[in-house]
Amino acid sequence: MSHQDVTAESPTAIPRYVQAFARNVAQRGDALELLRSLPDACAALAFFDPQHRGVLDKLAFGNEGARQRERSRLPAMGEDYIDACCREIARVLAPSGYCMRWVDTYGLCEAHHLRVADCLKCVDLIAWDNLRPGMGKRSRRRGDYLLVLQRPPVTARNWRDHGIPSRWVEKVDRRIHPHAKPIGLIERLIAAVTLPDDLVIDPAAGGFGVLDAARRLEREFIGCDAAQSELSDEPESVAKICRRWQRRYRRKGFGRALGAAS
Ligand SMILES: C[S@@+](CC[C@H](N)C(=O)[O-])C[C@H]1O[C@@H](n2cnc3c(N)ncnc32)[C@H](O)[C@@H]1O
Repeated sequence: MSHQDVTAESPTAIPRYVQAFARNVAQRGDALELLRSLPDACAALAFFDPQHRGVLDKLAFGNEGARQRERSRLPAMGEDYIDACCREIARVLAPSGYCMRWVDTYGLCEAHHLRVADCLKCVDLIAWDNLRPGMGKRSRRRGDYLLVLQRPPVTARNWRDHGIPSRWVEKVDRRIHPHAKPIGLIERLIAAVTLPDDLVIDPAAGGFGVLDAARRLEREFIGCDAAQSELSDEPESVAKICRRWQRRYRRKGFGRALGAAS
């Protein structure tokens, strides 16, 4: 896929006809378009794992070069666009609803989330250890961070699982998606803060792991990804999505690059 830079002013060039968003399917779409199509306060929970344009610029080094080049083919988002998505997420969340925002070390240290602190308050932090040493100019990265942001009013009364550790260890299969996040943690979080039939959203869904978890827990889901090439009228099984991603990455030699890096 060719590289696309996305800003708040110029979202990805996805044709208008694509933008009829359906529930409980893996579909192609633009994050901001999807969010803008939703009514106020309709969702209990959002996951947001943006594809940072700035970070991809820094990644072409070391023995992970091939995989990072593969990652850099994904459409990317400018910082203004990411903030605009966060503000839309705050709008579509119910009061005290949660936004689970993935960040890397740089984003955490630079406190990107504070740019939207007026509408999404940071109430917790979970460090994810993926047991796979990556790159880093000083310490070697081993996972990412999940910021728990909450639309005011801030309260912990709607958090029902107090056994979730703030250090979460889980390996992921990155053949599913180069940025796949830990599905065990995602499922636990959905169960902690939503009830059956609540709406969970993921506007940059990648391998659609959140859809899979939401289905298992009988929650409603709406989400999209700009790199999802096929439109689906029928709910698509996650196994099918995974097989398609695997085929796509095998074709591009991504599987071999992944093997070499691990
Ligand atoms: C970090 S990955 C998400 C990975 C996902 N959390 C998972 O577990 O598979 C970010 C995703 O954002 C998508 N993306 C980039 N720009 C987008 C946009 N404007 N709208 C929707 N998705 C976008 C990319 O295609 C990529 O799959």
